[in-house]
Amino acid sequence: MTGIIGAMPVEVDRLIEAMENKTPETISRMTFWRGELNGTPCVVACCGAGKVNSAVCAQTMILRYGVSLVINTGVAGGVGSREVRIGDLVVATGVVQHDYDTTPIDGPEGGRRLPLLDEELLPTDAHASAVLAQEAEALSPGRVHRGVIATGDQFMSDVNRLHAIAARTGALACEMEGGSIGQACALAGVPFTVLRAISDNADGNAVEDFPKFARESAEKSIALLLRALPRL
Ligand code: ADE
Repeated sequence: MTGIIGAMPVEVDRLIEAMENKTPETISRMTFWRGELNGTPCVVACCGAGKVNSAVCAQTMILRYGVSLVINTGVAGGVGSREVRIGDLVVATGVVQHDYDTTPIDGPEGGRRLPLLDEELLPTDAHASAVLAQEAEALSPGRVHRGVIATGDQFMSDVNRLHAIAARTGALACEMEGGSIGQACALAGVPFTVLRAISDNADGNAVEDFPKFARESAEKSIALLLRALPRL
Protein backbone atom coordinates (compact mmCIF):
# COMPACT_ATOMS: atom_id res chain seq x y z
CA MET A 1 0.00 0.00 0.00
CA THR A 2 1.34 3.43 -1.02
CA GLY A 3 0.37 6.52 0.98
CA ILE A 4 -0.05 9.81 -0.86
CA ILE A 5 -0.33 13.07 1.08
CA GLY A 6 -1.19 16.57 -0.13
CA ALA A 7 -1.70 19.59 2.10
CA MET A 8 -4.41 21.37 0.11
CA PRO A 9 -7.47 19.94 -1.69
CA VAL A 10 -6.07 21.09 -5.05
CA GLU A 11 -3.02 18.88 -4.41
CA VAL A 12 -5.04 15.64 -4.11
CA ASP A 13 -8.57 16.16 -5.51
CA ARG A 14 -7.77 14.83 -8.99
CA LEU A 15 -6.12 11.77 -7.45
CA ILE A 16 -9.20 11.00 -5.38
CA GLU A 17 -11.36 11.48 -8.50
CA ALA A 18 -9.15 9.02 -10.39
CA MET A 19 -9.25 6.41 -7.63
CA GLU A 20 -11.14 3.15 -8.22
CA ASN A 21 -12.98 1.01 -5.62
CA LYS A 22 -12.49 3.78 -3.07
CA THR A 23 -13.70 3.96 0.51
CA PRO A 24 -13.28 6.94 2.87
CA GLU A 25 -12.43 6.94 6.57
CA THR A 26 -12.04 10.08 8.68
CA ILE A 27 -9.42 10.13 11.44
CA SER A 28 -8.18 13.29 13.22
CA ARG A 29 -10.38 15.40 10.89
CA MET A 30 -8.52 14.02 7.85
CA THR A 31 -10.28 11.83 5.27
CA PHE A 32 -8.25 8.84 4.13
CA TRP A 33 -9.34 7.44 0.74
CA ARG A 34 -8.29 3.85 0.21
CA GLY A 35 -8.54 2.33 -3.28
CA GLU A 36 -6.54 1.79 -6.47
CA LEU A 37 -4.77 4.32 -8.65
CA ASN A 38 -3.67 2.95 -12.01
CA GLY A 39 -4.02 -0.52 -10.49
CA THR A 40 -1.82 0.34 -7.48
CA PRO A 41 -3.28 -0.01 -3.94
CA CYS A 42 -3.10 3.46 -2.37
CA VAL A 43 -4.39 5.58 0.46
CA VAL A 44 -4.72 9.31 -0.29
CA ALA A 45 -5.35 12.12 2.20
CA CYS A 46 -5.44 15.89 2.38
CA CYS A 47 -3.77 16.87 5.66
CA GLY A 48 -3.93 20.69 5.77
CA ALA A 49 -0.84 22.89 5.71
CA GLY A 50 2.10 22.57 8.04
CA LYS A 51 4.40 20.22 9.85
CA VAL A 52 2.16 18.94 12.64
CA ASN A 53 -0.84 18.02 10.47
CA SER A 54 1.35 16.37 7.86
CA ALA A 55 3.24 14.32 10.45
CA VAL A 56 -0.06 13.19 12.03
CA CYS A 57 -1.26 12.18 8.57
CA ALA A 58 1.91 10.21 7.77
CA GLN A 59 1.83 8.48 11.15
CA THR A 60 -1.82 7.53 10.64
CA MET A 61 -1.02 6.06 7.23
CA ILE A 62 1.83 4.06 8.77
CA LEU A 63 -0.06 2.70 11.79
CA ARG A 64 -3.56 2.32 10.38
CA TYR A 65 -2.92 1.42 6.73
CA GLY A 66 0.52 -0.20 6.94
CA VAL A 67 1.90 1.83 4.03
CA SER A 68 5.29 0.71 2.71
CA LEU A 69 5.99 4.01 0.89
CA VAL A 70 4.75 7.56 1.52
CA ILE A 71 4.73 10.15 -1.26
CA ASN A 72 4.16 13.82 -0.56
CA THR A 73 2.83 15.61 -3.64
CA GLY A 74 1.98 19.26 -4.20
CA VAL A 75 3.40 22.69 -4.89
CA ALA A 76 6.42 24.55 -3.55
CA GLY A 77 8.25 27.84 -3.72
CA GLY A 78 11.29 27.56 -6.00
CA VAL A 79 14.73 29.02 -5.35
CA GLY A 80 15.02 31.28 -8.40
CA SER A 81 18.77 31.78 -7.96
CA ARG A 82 19.17 28.03 -8.58
CA GLU A 83 17.25 28.33 -11.87
CA VAL A 84 14.11 26.73 -10.44
CA ARG A 85 11.16 28.34 -12.24
CA ILE A 86 7.37 28.40 -11.86
CA GLY A 87 5.98 25.21 -13.47
CA ASP A 88 9.19 23.21 -12.96
CA LEU A 89 9.12 19.88 -11.12
CA VAL A 90 11.33 19.10 -8.12
CA VAL A 91 11.93 15.55 -6.86
CA ALA A 92 13.60 15.63 -3.45
CA THR A 93 16.84 13.79 -2.78
CA GLY A 94 16.36 14.74 0.87
CA VAL A 95 14.39 17.01 3.18
CA VAL A 96 15.43 19.43 5.93
CA GLN A 97 13.37 21.46 8.39
CA HIS A 98 14.67 25.01 8.14
CA ASP A 99 12.89 26.10 11.32
CA TYR A 100 14.22 23.33 13.59
CA ASP A 101 16.92 25.05 15.61
CA THR A 102 18.32 24.32 19.07
CA THR A 103 21.74 25.83 18.26
CA PRO A 104 21.74 28.13 21.35
CA ILE A 105 21.99 25.02 23.58
CA ASP A 106 23.39 22.36 21.21
CA GLY A 107 25.80 24.36 19.04
CA PRO A 108 25.79 25.03 15.27
CA GLU A 109 26.01 21.35 14.21
CA GLY A 110 24.06 19.56 16.95
CA GLY A 111 21.34 22.20 17.03
CA ARG A 112 20.01 21.22 13.61
CA ARG A 113 19.87 17.48 14.17
CA LEU A 114 16.41 16.01 14.63
CA PRO A 115 15.73 14.26 17.95
CA LEU A 116 16.16 10.45 17.94
CA LEU A 117 17.27 10.51 14.28
CA ASP A 118 20.46 12.55 14.86
CA GLU A 119 20.40 13.92 11.29
CA GLU A 120 19.37 17.23 9.75
CA LEU A 121 18.94 15.95 6.20
CA LEU A 122 16.62 12.97 5.79
CA PRO A 123 17.22 11.18 2.47
CA THR A 124 14.28 10.19 0.31
CA ASP A 125 13.85 6.67 -1.07
CA ALA A 126 16.33 6.30 -3.92
CA HIS A 127 14.22 4.01 -6.13
CA ALA A 128 10.93 5.93 -5.85
CA SER A 129 12.71 9.25 -6.38
CA ALA A 130 14.61 7.97 -9.42
CA VAL A 131 11.40 6.65 -11.03
CA LEU A 132 9.60 9.95 -10.35
CA ALA A 133 12.50 11.96 -11.78
CA GLN A 134 12.60 9.77 -14.90
CA GLU A 135 8.86 10.09 -15.50
CA ALA A 136 9.06 13.82 -14.75
CA GLU A 137 11.72 14.28 -17.41
CA ALA A 138 9.48 12.46 -19.93
CA LEU A 139 6.55 14.73 -19.01
CA SER A 140 8.45 18.04 -18.75
CA PRO A 141 11.80 17.70 -20.55
CA GLY A 142 14.47 20.05 -19.17
CA ARG A 143 12.25 21.32 -16.38
CA VAL A 144 13.04 18.76 -13.69
CA HIS A 145 15.32 19.29 -10.70
CA ARG A 146 16.61 16.87 -8.09
CA GLY A 147 17.85 18.16 -4.74
CA VAL A 148 17.04 19.17 -1.20
CA ILE A 149 13.61 20.51 -0.26
CA ALA A 150 13.40 22.72 2.85
CA THR A 151 10.31 22.59 5.06
CA GLY A 152 9.07 24.99 7.72
CA ASP A 153 5.88 26.28 9.26
CA GLN A 154 5.95 29.47 7.21
CA PHE A 155 4.75 30.57 3.79
CA MET A 156 7.99 32.04 2.44
CA SER A 157 7.75 35.41 0.70
CA ASP A 158 11.06 37.04 1.63
CA VAL A 159 13.88 36.43 -0.81
CA ASN A 160 16.61 37.26 1.72
CA ARG A 161 15.31 34.68 4.14
CA LEU A 162 14.92 32.17 1.30
CA HIS A 163 18.51 32.73 0.16
CA ALA A 164 19.84 32.31 3.71
CA ILE A 165 18.03 28.95 3.97
CA ALA A 166 19.16 27.89 0.49
CA ALA A 167 22.79 28.85 1.26
CA ARG A 168 22.79 26.85 4.50
CA THR A 169 20.90 23.75 3.28
CA GLY A 170 21.43 23.72 -0.50
CA ALA A 171 17.64 23.67 -0.96
CA LEU A 172 16.07 24.06 -4.40
CA ALA A 173 12.55 24.61 -3.09
CA CYS A 174 10.64 25.32 0.10
CA GLU A 175 7.30 24.10 1.38
CA MET A 176 5.56 23.23 4.63
CA GLU A 177 5.16 19.42 4.89
CA GLY A 178 7.89 17.32 3.23
CA GLY A 179 10.35 17.49 6.15
CA SER A 180 7.80 16.51 8.79
CA ILE A 181 6.40 13.68 6.67
CA GLY A 182 10.00 12.57 6.22
CA GLN A 183 10.58 12.75 9.96
CA ALA A 184 7.51 10.62 10.78
CA CYS A 185 8.56 8.10 8.11
CA ALA A 186 12.21 8.01 9.21
CA LEU A 187 11.21 7.39 12.84
CA ALA A 188 9.09 4.43 11.72
CA GLY A 189 11.60 3.17 9.14
CA VAL A 190 9.16 3.68 6.23
CA PRO A 191 10.54 4.91 2.88
CA PHE A 192 9.23 8.26 1.63
CA THR A 193 9.72 10.77 -1.12
CA VAL A 194 8.58 14.29 -2.01
CA LEU A 195 7.46 15.53 -5.38
CA ARG A 196 6.62 19.18 -5.90
CA ALA A 197 5.73 21.48 -8.79
CA ILE A 198 6.73 25.12 -8.43
CA SER A 199 3.89 27.61 -7.89
CA ASP A 200 5.98 30.69 -6.97
CA ASN A 201 9.54 31.76 -6.18
CA ALA A 202 9.03 32.34 -2.45
CA ASP A 203 9.93 35.99 -3.02
CA GLY A 204 8.14 39.35 -2.99
CA ASN A 205 5.82 38.13 -5.79
CA ALA A 206 4.89 34.84 -4.07
CA VAL A 207 1.65 36.13 -2.56
CA GLU A 208 0.36 37.01 -6.08
CA ASP A 209 1.94 34.05 -7.90
CA PHE A 210 0.80 31.31 -5.53
CA PRO A 211 -2.98 31.65 -6.19
CA LYS A 212 -2.31 32.15 -9.92
CA PHE A 213 -0.20 29.03 -10.43
CA ALA A 214 -1.05 26.62 -7.57
CA ARG A 215 -3.75 24.65 -9.40
CA GLU A 216 -1.87 24.22 -12.67
CA SER A 217 1.33 23.23 -10.85
CA ALA A 218 -0.42 20.89 -8.39
CA GLU A 219 -2.07 19.08 -11.29
CA LYS A 220 1.27 18.66 -13.03
CA SER A 221 2.56 16.89 -9.94
CA ILE A 222 -0.57 14.67 -9.88
CA ALA A 223 -0.26 13.79 -13.60
CA LEU A 224 3.33 12.73 -13.02
CA LEU A 225 2.42 10.66 -9.98
CA LEU A 226 -0.34 8.80 -11.84
CA ARG A 227 2.11 7.92 -14.61
CA ALA A 228 4.80 6.77 -12.20
CA LEU A 229 2.73 4.80 -9.67
CA PRO A 230 2.77 1.42 -11.47
CA ARG A 231 6.60 1.55 -11.48
CA LEU A 232 7.08 2.48 -7.82
N1 ADE B 1 4.24 26.21 -1.04
C1 ADE B 1 4.14 26.84 -2.22
N2 ADE B 1 4.77 28.03 -2.18
C2 ADE B 1 5.28 28.16 -0.93
C3 ADE B 1 6.02 29.16 -0.29
N3 ADE B 1 6.37 30.28 -0.92
N4 ADE B 1 6.36 28.96 1.01
C4 ADE B 1 6.00 27.82 1.65
N5 ADE B 1 5.30 26.85 1.08
C5 ADE B 1 4.94 27.00 -0.21
